[in-house]
Amino acid sequence: MKTLAVLTSGGDSPGMNAAVRAVTKLAAAQGLSMLGVLEGYEGLIDGRFRELTHRQTDGLVIVDLEVDIAGGQGGTLIGSARSARFREKDGRAKAVEQLKARGVGGLVVIGGNGSLTGAHFLAQEFGVRVIGIPGSIDNDIGCTSTALGVDTALNTIVEACDRISDTARAHRRALVVEVMGRDCGYLAMASAVAVAADAVLIREQGKSEAQVVADVSALIRSGFARGKRRILIIKAEGVQVPCTKLVRLAEEALKPELPGVEIRATVLGHVVRGGNPSYQDRAVAGRLGFAAVSALLAGATDEMVGWLPPLAGGTPTADSSVVRFPLSQVLEETKALIDGTSQVTQRRLKLMEKAAGVLAL
Ligand code: F6P
Repeated sequence: MKTLAVLTSGGDSPGMNAAVRAVTKLAAAQGLSMLGVLEGYEGLIDGRFRELTHRQTDGLVIVDLEVDIAGGQGGTLIGSARSARFREKDGRAKAVEQLKARGVGGLVVIGGNGSLTGAHFLAQEFGVRVIGIPGSIDNDIGCTSTALGVDTALNTIVEACDRISDTARAHRRALVVEVMGRDCGYLAMASAVAVAADAVLIREQGKSEAQVVADVSALIRSGFARGKRRILIIKAEGVQVPCTKLVRLAEEALKPELPGVEIRATVLGHVVRGGNPSYQDRAVAGRLGFAAVSALLAGATDEMVGWLPPLAGGTPTADSSVVRFPLSQVLEETKALIDGTSQVTQRRLKLMEKAAGVLAL
């Protein structure tokens, strides 16, 4: 094996560049060249690559300077995409031809649910040697306690909520803040605890629009009655009621008793996905990158390297916090996380039910 390739796919997340840097350095240290695939599976189908290493005349392989610098930056320097063509077997066959044409002996895929599903198909259908690294701010990937970008996204949400709280207290207002996460309420739950929000709304609670409006109105009513100056409600984007509609309906419900009530909505949106990666995301990226390249060199394929506390099961690696799992298991657990059958989701929900009474105090 002389050449490896790496791609980032789906929604970018802080830490992807750090992982690209890590796998590139690891490959170079082994005397291997690293190709970056531009714009995920889309670029792979079209054969768009970029050299991330350079082979010197003395045979030494060095890392491209831009890769080194980008390691500390958000986004992804090799680009990302959501590829409709790759969902078809024809598209995947074209992608495999491109890998063969460039002599790629192993592929690292950094991304979320869809990207890891694509990696699994490449291994199963075409025997491509592939290892996944979880990268998604949503934290909805099985077999890992965190994915690249989650920690940075949480820090961004906490900072934004602190700012919003300052102005909310100044005006004695209620604020509904919507955070990303697609179908997963993790970012909302975790940030709500960290910023001492008054409540959290997540899709997993399965509440109807009328229930959500009633709960929010009751919370604002009792919070202001107790003399609070800021009421902060974190809403996950998976909750189908749009923020502006929720605010309008809650204001309408409260106006008869609280004519001057002021509720505002802030949708943090893509702000949460940008920014330089935190220490944790960089450190995890480095260690997962190391494990991914080591796994490829050891002949492993169709697996993901996950970040888990020691002794959590799976195949241990040289790093006690990194464990390898078959992609089939990762994808099964990911599905369960989202459809609510996973024990992890049920545990989170129970915890949030318990926390609800405390948050509102
Ligand atoms: O999966 C990451 C994510 O940021 C989700 O939280 C969000 O629902 C989605 O991507 C947004 O995707 P896009 O950037 O394509 O609008």
